[in-house]
Amino acid sequence: MSVWEFATGTAEQTQQLAGKLAALLRAGDLIILSGELGAGKTTFTQGLGRSLGVREGIISPTFVLVRIHPNMPDGLNPGGPDLVHVDAYRLGTPGEIDDIDLENTMDSSVTVVEWGVDRVEHLAASRLEIELVRAVGGARPAPSAPTASGIASTLDGTDFSASFDADEDDDEPRTLRLVAVGPRWEGTDFSVLGQLVNTTE
Ligand SMILES: Nc1ncnc2c1ncn2[C@@H]1O[C@H](COP(=O)(O)OP(=O)(O)OP(=O)(O)O)[C@@H](O)[C@H]1O
Ligand SMILES: [Mg+2]
Repeated sequence: MSVWEFATGTAEQTQQLAGKLAALLRAGDLIILSGELGAGKTTFTQGLGRSLGVREGIISPTFVLVRIHPNMPDGLNPGGPDLVHVDAYRLGTPGEIDDIDLENTMDSSVTVVEWGVDRVEHLAASRLEIELVRAVGGARPAPSAPTASGIASTLDGTDFSASFDADEDDDEPRTLRLVAVGPRWEGTDFSVLGQLVNTTE
């Protein structure tokens, strides 16, 4: 087992880190993502999907437990694995996980499970556990109320969505803690993924 901790400052940096990880992945790999609501698990998966060259449209699955994103022949990584994206938030036990038959797709896919801790470890001999943590003091500020000018611009028909869309300035520091478990990852150097702040091998 080895542990690697990285710092990212923006959602884009988290996606870039995931993109570099994609280069190390192959079909059969299992990634378990954890971290509080809004920590960046789906954001991370989007970066992974982009570099794996799978079909776009990675979103928080919410009511859909599993989404399969097939590898795109004209994408960044033709012939590579598909991406299976699971949200185990509503799944209680490993038994319920077995009901959704991830074994079927594991061999041809990289399987990423949000909220998968204590639920999917039994699916593979090796795994990457990635926890996204909001940096201390980096709590999201309360959203500001719409401004009077924003409301006024609705009234005159102007698109004011930008004044609500906090995404642009939403970027906050995150610590990304990667634990590599099992023979598959023995000896792998993850320091290439991003700004390493700590590691124990
Ligand atoms: N450094 C960062 N890394 C990742 N996301 C960030 C970062 N800074 C800000 N964000 C923002 O935090 C939000 C993360 O949302 P996301 O849906 O990825 O979280 P999640 O962990 O999947 O949540 P849920 O548990 O609800 O599925 C996004 O709006 C993203 O832009
Ligand atoms: Mg999510």
